Amino acid sequence: MSNIGSYEERNKNFDWSIAEKELNYKNGDVINIGWYCSDRICEMGKANKLALVWEGLGGIEKKYTFNDIRLKSNTIAAFLKNLGIKNEERVCLFMDKMPELYIGFLGILKMGAIAQPLFSAFGDESLHVRLDNAQTTAIITQRKHVSKVRKIVDRMPYLKHIVIVDYDGKKPLREREISFSMDEAKQVENFDIFPTKAESPSVLHYTSGTTGQPKGVKHVHYSLISQYLTTKWVLDLQEDDIYWCTADPGWVTGTSYGIIGPWSLGITQCVLDTGFSAESWYKFIEKRKITMWYSAPTAIRSLMKAGNEIIKQHDLSSLRHLASVGEPLNAEAVIWSEKVFGKAFLDTYWQTETGSIMLTNFPGMKIKPGSMAKPFPGITATILDPDTYKEIMEPNKPGLIGFRPDWPAMMRTYWRNEETYNKKFVNGWYIPGDRSTIDADGYFWFVGRDDDVINTGGHLVSPFEVESALLEHESVAESAVVAKPDEVNMEVVKAFVTLKPGYEASDDLELQIMNFIRKKLSPLAMPQEIEYMKTLPKTRSGKIMRRVLHAKEWGEEIGDTSTLEDDE
Ligand code: WT7
Repeated sequence: MSNIGSYEERNKNFDWSIAEKELNYKNGDVINIGWYCSDRICEMGKANKLALVWEGLGGIEKKYTFNDIRLKSNTIAAFLKNLGIKNEERVCLFMDKMPELYIGFLGILKMGAIAQPLFSAFGDESLHVRLDNAQTTAIITQRKHVSKVRKIVDRMPYLKHIVIVDYDGKKPLREREISFSMDEAKQVENFDIFPTKAESPSVLHYTSGTTGQPKGVKHVHYSLISQYLTTKWVLDLQEDDIYWCTADPGWVTGTSYGIIGPWSLGITQCVLDTGFSAESWYKFIEKRKITMWYSAPTAIRSLMKAGNEIIKQHDLSSLRHLASVGEPLNAEAVIWSEKVFGKAFLDTYWQTETGSIMLTNFPGMKIKPGSMAKPFPGITATILDPDTYKEIMEPNKPGLIGFRPDWPAMMRTYWRNEETYNKKFVNGWYIPGDRSTIDADGYFWFVGRDDDVINTGGHLVSPFEVESALLEHESVAESAVVAKPDEVNMEVVKAFVTLKPGYEASDDLELQIMNFIRKKLSPLAMPQEIEYMKTLPKTRSGKIMRRVLHAKEWGEEIGDTSTLEDDE
C-alpha cells in the first residue's frame, strides 16, 4: 500500500496541517530543520538506524546512524558558533558529495545560519558572483576546491572564514583559512539549537535567469512541511526503504529530497560520490539494495543508451519505486523503464523557487507517459493566457503555468533582488516561467520554457552569464549563446562569436575558448560548439537577436523578424 493511498481522497479537504500534526508542530512553535532531521528521529527511538551510507571512489564506504548525524551536526554547529558566526549569516557549502556536505547542512541550520550550497564544479567566477551577492561569511570546502576560493578571496571582504574539512597539514594554511575535521573534533553531545521559527531563513539556492546575475532563492524553515509530505506521498518513502537521490546538494533536489525529505522521515539513504557510468550505477543499486531511486531524465536517457544487456548482468530486484525530475521526461524513457525495471519512472515537476514537488505522478495513479500528471494536494495550478494572464479553460491549449503561492516551501524572496521577485507574480498567480497544457483529464503536459535559459541535463544555464564570460576572452568581440538540441542532455550550450581583429578562427582557438569557460564558470556552462560569425544578427538598435540563432539550431521557422525588432 502506498503512503498516499487514493489521490482523490487526499485532495478532498486537504490541509497542510496534516504534515504539521505528524511533525508535532503548531503555529508559532520553534521549527528547526536540523533538529527535525536528526535529534527528533533519535527521540523517536531510531538513534541506531542508519541515516547515511556513503560510497566514494574505489568503493570506500562510510556509515552514519541518526545518532551519528545528530552528534556530528551538533559538533559542526558548535564549531561555527565558536567562530563567531551569527544566526542568518550565510555559510556556503562548497564540496563534492562528501558526508560533511550532508551533515554540515544540518549543522548550519542548527546554529541558525543560512545554508548556501554551491555546486563544487563551479569555477572561480561562478563562485564569486554567488558569494558576493549573498555576502557570505564563511565557506566550508575541501582541499581539492580551495584554490578556486583563494583566487577570489581578495575580492570578498565579507568572507571571514574558509573552513577546510580534509586538511592534511602538508601546505601551510593562509589567512582566513582554518582546518576542521568532523570526525576528529571532540563530539558535542548537547548543542543549544537556535530557536528558528517558521519564517526564519534556512537555505539560499542560486538559480540562473535569462538576464542579469543568478538569483538567490531564499527558503525558510517552514518549507519542511511541504518537503516532508511530498517525500512521503510522492517518493513514497517507508520505514524499511533504502533511498538513493542521485542529485547533488549543490542544487535544490539534493537538499529538499537528498537531505530534508528522507531524514525528516527517518529513512536510510545512500550516496554515491563518484561520476556517472551505467555500470557503476547498476552496481550501486545491486550492492546497496536500493528500493527507491530519485533521478533525472538525462541520466535515464544515458542508461537507455547503455542498453539492456548490462541490466541483465545485475540484480536490481530491490527497486520498488522510481521517480525523476529536472527536465521533460520523454514518453520513451517512461515506457523503457517500465519494461526493464518493471517500474516506470514517475515524472515530477518543480523548481528551485517552489522548494518542493508541484506537479507530479503519484504511486497508483494512471500514468500517461510524457505527462507531468497532476498538482500535489493543496496546490492550485492552472494555465494562463500569456497576454492577458486569464485562466485558459479549454483543454489542450498551451499557456503559462500559474500557481497560487500558498504552499509552505515557496521561496520568500530573491536575495537582495526584491524587484525581480515581484515580477514573478501576476493577478495573484506565481509564474514559474514554463509553458504547459492541461488535457481533459486534468493532466499537465510540459511544452517548454518561456525564456532563453538553457536546461542542459537538468541544470539551468544562463545565456547571459556565458555571453559575459566569453567577452572576457581576449579574442572575442561579440557573443550570443543559445541551446542546441542534444540526444542525451536535451539541450547543450552553443556559442556564436565574432572575433577581434588579429584573431583567426580555428579549431585550436575553439578549444581554448571552451576551456576558458569551463574553468571560469563550470563544465555545464561550457559551450559544446563555437561557431564563428562575421556578424551577429541584430535589431536596428543593435541588440543581438538570440531567437534567430536559436531557430536556426532547432530547424524552426524564424518567422517575421520585424516583430523581433527591439523585442525584449
Ligand atoms: C526548471 C527548474 C527542482 C528540480 C531541479 C531543477 C524544468 C523541472 C521538470 C519536468 C519538464 C522540468 C522547468 C523548471 N523542469 N522539472 N518534470 N518536466 N521540465 O530545478 O534548476 O530550478 O529548474 O526545470 O523548466 O522551471 P531548477
